[in-house]
Amino acid sequence: MHVIVTGGAGYIGTHTCLELLASGHEVTVIDNLSNASQEGLRRVERLTGKSLRFIQADLVDPVATEKVFQECPNATAVIHFAGLKAVGESSEKPLLYYHNNLTGTLNLCQAMQRHGIKNIVFSSSATVYGDPASVPITEDFPLGICTNPYARTKAMIEDILRDLHAADSTWNVILLRYFNPVGAHESGEIGEDPNGIPNNLMPYIAQVAVGRLKQLSVFGNDYPTPDGTGVRDFIHVVDLAKGHLRALEKLEQQPGAIAYNLGTGQGCSVLEIIHAFEKASGKTVKFVIAPRRKGDIACCYADPSRAEKELGWKAERGIEAMCVDTWNWQSKNPKGYGR
Ligand code: NAD
Ligand code: WQD
Repeated sequence: MHVIVTGGAGYIGTHTCLELLASGHEVTVIDNLSNASQEGLRRVERLTGKSLRFIQADLVDPVATEKVFQECPNATAVIHFAGLKAVGESSEKPLLYYHNNLTGTLNLCQAMQRHGIKNIVFSSSATVYGDPASVPITEDFPLGICTNPYARTKAMIEDILRDLHAADSTWNVILLRYFNPVGAHESGEIGEDPNGIPNNLMPYIAQVAVGRLKQLSVFGNDYPTPDGTGVRDFIHVVDLAKGHLRALEKLEQQPGAIAYNLGTGQGCSVLEIIHAFEKASGKTVKFVIAPRRKGDIACCYADPSRAEKELGWKAERGIEAMCVDTWNWQSKNPKGYGR
């Protein structure tokens, strides 16, 4: 299958491109490199011994987006990763987030429609559930109140894609709701390379361990959780990447518009992650307890059984592998790709 991968140069995109190439798919990546470098994709080619096509283009530009589709006449599906994802920045620059994520998606879908490509896998997020009434979260939970513009772009794009299918049932839409992706490919050659100071827990811990940052602030230890710190469903990025291949296979059965949680089903606290990382790396992760972060919830983990039943997908890697692989990547590449 020839798959167009938007945002394929990014963290989850590179890991997914690797799995796609390894499974014999043809891959064209569209990325504007606003949050990535091409080095990750070069390494994907080296690791697989296969090549992909890279087109530097911005989805916000309708002409450039159309041109990509003209150059890919045999493509049959799109995996749509491209988007801005920093929660805090989205509150400071809402127009940037709405424009990039929504206009980009509209341009993409219009080009797909023109070229008769009506199969899409979209990177949604557990953030669309807001603060869930209970855990584990199933896909049938009501979509919650989003606390920031980033989260709202995900909820809005889900609506747009469901509407597309409602208007034209030949569109097939799979909404993958990721929980907390972490880890790196076991080679340590590709991994997460955040711009500036990381917002997310795992890259922050990794940068403390490697000496780039002084100490971690643990945002709150007074949550109603077993140790008082936040609980999340961390999922290894390689498991997540493999989930996209199962979703592509599902699209061939013309499933309509459907959402799947991609998580492990296991909650893990911030303190548990710190200790697992210390064990995996042999380093001490210095931390202080700080006030809660605005917008955070106490506990969030998936019920991933729909994905297991309908996609034949299940996360296989646990917290230990997530920490070992993150450390392998971070210690081999202390400055990431060096962008
Ligand atoms: P990332 O920033 O590493 O990858 C996104 C890629 O999209 C980047 O390479 C960036 O350059 C590109 N991009 C952004 N806007 C673009 C545009 N207008 N045109 C072309 N390319 C553009 O992020 P990631 O962690 O790999 O996330 C991939 C997707 O998954 C995003 O949509 C994100 O919102 C979603 N997601 C991520 C997480 C997470 O914690 N990492 C969780 C849930 C959902
Ligand atoms: C995890 C836990 C923090 C950093 C975010 C987005 C979500 C999705 C995944 C894209 C929380 C604590 C964190 C730190 C800490 N992304 N923490 N110190 O907030 O669950 O989800 O990323 O869709 O939309 O909101 O992930 O890694 O930021 O935080 O104590 O320096 O770690 O309070 O309990 P989160 P996270």
